[in-house]
Amino acid sequence: MKVKSTVVALLFLSLLACKRDFNAQTAYSLIPLPHSLQENNQVFELNKKSRIVFSDESLENSAILLQEYIFSLANLKLDIFPQAEVKRMENVIFLSSVLKEERLAAEGYRLSVDKDKVILTSNDADGIFYGVQTLFQLFELQNLDPDNLHLIVPPIRLWDEPSFSYRGMHLDVCRHYFDVDFIKHYLDLMAYYKFNRFHWHLTEDQAWRIEIKKYPKLTDIGAWRTESDGTRYGGFYTQEEIKEVVAYAKKLHIIVVPEIEMPGHSRAALAAYPAFSCTGKQQEVPNNWGVFDDIYCAGKDETFVFIQDVLDEVINLFPDEYIHIGGDEAPKIRWEKCEKCQARMQAEDLKSEHELQSYFIKRISVYLSSKGKKLIGWDEILEGGLAENAIVMSWRGMEGGIAATRQGNQVVMTPGTHCYFDHYQADKIFEPKAIGGYTSLKKVYDFNPIPDDLFTEQKNLILGAQANVWTEYISSTDQIEYMILPRMLALSEVVWGSKKNKNWEAFQIRLQDHFKLFDKKGLRFSKGSYRLRYEIQWDSIQNQKKLAIFSEQYQPKIYFTLDGTEPNVKSRLYSEPFLISDQDSVVSAGIFENGKLIHAATHFEIGK
Ligand code: ACM
Ligand code: ZN
Repeated sequence: MKVKSTVVALLFLSLLACKRDFNAQTAYSLIPLPHSLQENNQVFELNKKSRIVFSDESLENSAILLQEYIFSLANLKLDIFPQAEVKRMENVIFLSSVLKEERLAAEGYRLSVDKDKVILTSNDADGIFYGVQTLFQLFELQNLDPDNLHLIVPPIRLWDEPSFSYRGMHLDVCRHYFDVDFIKHYLDLMAYYKFNRFHWHLTEDQAWRIEIKKYPKLTDIGAWRTESDGTRYGGFYTQEEIKEVVAYAKKLHIIVVPEIEMPGHSRAALAAYPAFSCTGKQQEVPNNWGVFDDIYCAGKDETFVFIQDVLDEVINLFPDEYIHIGGDEAPKIRWEKCEKCQARMQAEDLKSEHELQSYFIKRISVYLSSKGKKLIGWDEILEGGLAENAIVMSWRGMEGGIAATRQGNQVVMTPGTHCYFDHYQADKIFEPKAIGGYTSLKKVYDFNPIPDDLFTEQKNLILGAQANVWTEYISSTDQIEYMILPRMLALSEVVWGSKKNKNWEAFQIRLQDHFKLFDKKGLRFSKGSYRLRYEIQWDSIQNQKKLAIFSEQYQPKIYFTLDGTEPNVKSRLYSEPFLISDQDSVVSAGIFENGKLIHAATHFEIGK
């Protein structure tokens, strides 16, 4: 008896703890959720005399960003001081990166609040930057109503750090072109949700978008195509614009990873310089989507001279270590018929065209290494032999990534199943046209970049994950927002958030405040699938059937009837699984917003 009551008491306590955790998770709606959030009882109130103080120069940029954020939100301009000039730490937000806390990962931070000060500490300037992002989110989420501003930092203590060092968002600017202002906006969104790698897909079959001074035809010809209705479509980034974007990203602690595609997806370059293809034939920049047979000739030395010249200019523009060289979807049909490619295979003792591709990529990898750069490529670079030190971006599932870790190479996971944000995110019926697929918010949220059955050394080679935004069917900036929001928030919980905190229900609750924020900021976003599912459950206590209704993606108001009539707001509001009797044969349920049915009622035939 005693044992039983102890078990009951323990069960009760653990339920209580779960409930408390759940409440803490949803209390401030932060996304990504910090790794540890505790509540205390000291609130910091901002006023005109509050100051921002920073411990050393590397944090001045974050101090200025915080000042700008608060100004944009509340029209309140706080003074900024270096710590050396401040005698009394009162009424301050103090940014300090001298923590030297070994347990805290790179980019992590701690935040503590009392009524006199907010203290943000970290081991590095990145950590302070992310702490500032968190502070800004706290301010914004508490001020969704602009007529009722209260600038407080709530009574919390945070310990927060990323789960992965590579937290990426990709953007294809070739199938459609987006200007520098939009790229900056994209970077702003990334930073807000703690992403740190922008994969900029700059060259494709349908366009070459980066100015290369030595080869002006790349943009004179390659940046433009004639659409099927005869109009000219295109655009490109000048080297000055590229520098502007890289500098802007740097302020947001984002590294830009440029992608220069080879040997495939290179028709725009070959339209400008046909001599670098196998046939040498003049061809247009294509205006349709797909995978094309004409690729760079791997037999001609001139091709490599050209690519190395291009990479020299790219390297000068992008100071960070990564260069992405594509490597995906390169048909070998031209190489099979090309004398020069075949001669190269003979000379280098290559047994197949896959080995010729591997030769191509390895040659470029050696060149990039000589310039102190690291090559990233799509998982096809495994075929025919992987270049030493190459980082593999696994897109055709996780297998390529897993194989790469077995060879000791680093990996970024970006499988089509979970990370392709050009796919539909909800039921097609309710969504604008997309390329296909189905990558729902829940699927993204449930993504685990590290397969469980890997050895620890392999797991450590997985740098992180990235969402890819291909733009064949995305021609406007509104549509990009719609495709990434809210899925990038789910991904932020995967790459920054901690696996042990994952809770789909709590995430959906936090998400509702971000939807309000999107509305306030005029951002387009998808509310996800309105489709309802149901499940019959057996209630063993009452010996009767129960019916549960689910909305796959969020928690809307669901009204239902049991008599076959259409539901309306006077019908029963669904709250939890309910008992059904043998007479109940059909449930008609609908999703309502502001009193209106927003999706035609779904009829469930019970027990048939
Ligand atoms: C890809 O989606 N072709 C990398
Ligand atoms: Zn060739």
